[in-house]
Amino acid sequence: MSSPRKLHIKSYGCQMNVYDAQRMVDTLAPEGFVETDSVGDADLVILNTCHIREKASEKVYSELGRLRVAREEAATHGRDMNVVVAGCVAQAEGDEIIRRAPVVDVVVGPQSYHNLPQLLARARNEGRAIDTEFPVEDKFTLLPQPKPEMIRARGVSAFVTVQEGCDKFCTFCVVPYTRGAEVSRPVARILDDVQRLTENGVREITLIGQNVNAYHGDGPDGQTWSLGRLLYRLAEIPGVARIRYSTSHPRDVDDDLIAAHRDLPELMPFVHLPVQSGSDRILAAMNRKHTADDYHRVIERFRSARQDIAFSSDFIVGFPGETEEDFKATLALVRQIGYAGAYSFKYSPRPGTPAADMQEMVAPATMDERLARLQELIDSQQHAFNRAAIGTTVDVLFERAARNEGQIVGRTAYLQPAHVMASEDIIGQVLPVTLDSLERYSLLGRLVTAAPPARTSFASATTGA
Ligand code: SAH
Ligand code: SF4
Ligand code: F3S
Repeated sequence: MSSPRKLHIKSYGCQMNVYDAQRMVDTLAPEGFVETDSVGDADLVILNTCHIREKASEKVYSELGRLRVAREEAATHGRDMNVVVAGCVAQAEGDEIIRRAPVVDVVVGPQSYHNLPQLLARARNEGRAIDTEFPVEDKFTLLPQPKPEMIRARGVSAFVTVQEGCDKFCTFCVVPYTRGAEVSRPVARILDDVQRLTENGVREITLIGQNVNAYHGDGPDGQTWSLGRLLYRLAEIPGVARIRYSTSHPRDVDDDLIAAHRDLPELMPFVHLPVQSGSDRILAAMNRKHTADDYHRVIERFRSARQDIAFSSDFIVGFPGETEEDFKATLALVRQIGYAGAYSFKYSPRPGTPAADMQEMVAPATMDERLARLQELIDSQQHAFNRAAIGTTVDVLFERAARNEGQIVGRTAYLQPAHVMASEDIIGQVLPVTLDSLERYSLLGRLVTAAPPARTSFASATTGA
């Protein structure tokens, strides 16, 4: 048997790219590839790229410059190194990549990466290969399943794509163009994936999609299932201690989803619900199709279903035409909601999106200043939220050994890292922890030793957080 070839994969962007990267590794495993952390000894390097903002996309070309040098270096040792550009920049700028970067052998879009083995073979014969089609066949049916040992190596928390693409066309956003139209996977396939994951040690499932709560998949009963309905079914699978979903759109929050938060202790009370702006004028220009008031009402529905629910969000500052007054409306919204955390970005014009043609660009210095003000407010809310956990006892799902000797790190319901001194046996369990202090973003605590020994991790998860 030939020795395994080494694959190095670098992912940028969102959770779906992280998931896709794992599935690319699964696709190439039967071809004899094993993962390596180092570019230096890789036979194949894949850049899984993100196109969402200019900075994200530009990274690709600087990275390709470094890979050209690495490839030349490998050649001096008589080795070849193949280079693949995958992900959303590949989709948006595939031809340009081929033109500008001779080091690239294969360009493959987010809907075609199941074809990687054939594309690599074609590149070997023909020099280069590009595939940025949105194929009619479902890539998920063609992707090989991960091997049990791969699932175990990836840890107790796993992503599962349930929905992909977006039909919302916010005027600033490339996602509808790079990921294509919104598609939901059938319920039965998702259940199979989750079953396989939990049989191999996974305890937390995060359902992912660009618009995950727009989910409307074919159910085994011939009906179309909502995300809420899917959540109820997933909560029944033995071994599923925690369920999360990301990213949701405020317009697609329906009664099923709210009810799931009321009824399912496995469903974590932490929701990422991007609003982008607090100004109705800007929200309209962004084509978000909701007002600030609509958003407040959605938040209220969640809160009335589950009191301990917390929220995070995304914001864009400096969208074309944003005035100081518009920006103040964003600050006001943040003060009213009170977030556990949020991401904020300076508006970045993206080629081909409607907002890129809008006049009235906000001056870069104004954008910087607004971003700093918004981030200061968000940071203070996040800090207050984390500090409020000190002195409480909460359930923690333990994930891995921490860098500090003897410590195990896990996450609270709100994804806060929590460290305790314990043996590695607790990895994979949900256990109550009394939180004593906060160091930057990490909580330090101790296991509640009085827990009865018969208490299994499943039972503890049903107590909620
Ligand atoms: N599907 C999610 C978000 C996808 S992109 C949603 O509907 O909210 C992740 C975040 O990147 C967005 O929420 C937005 O805040 C930010 N973003 C997207 N396009 C951007 C752009 N052109 N400039 C700056 N930030 C952008
Ligand atoms: Fe982009 Fe808007 Fe779709 Fe989110 S909802 S992915 S921001 S177009
Ligand atoms: Fe980026 Fe594509 Fe995700 S543009 S944020 S990698 S969907």
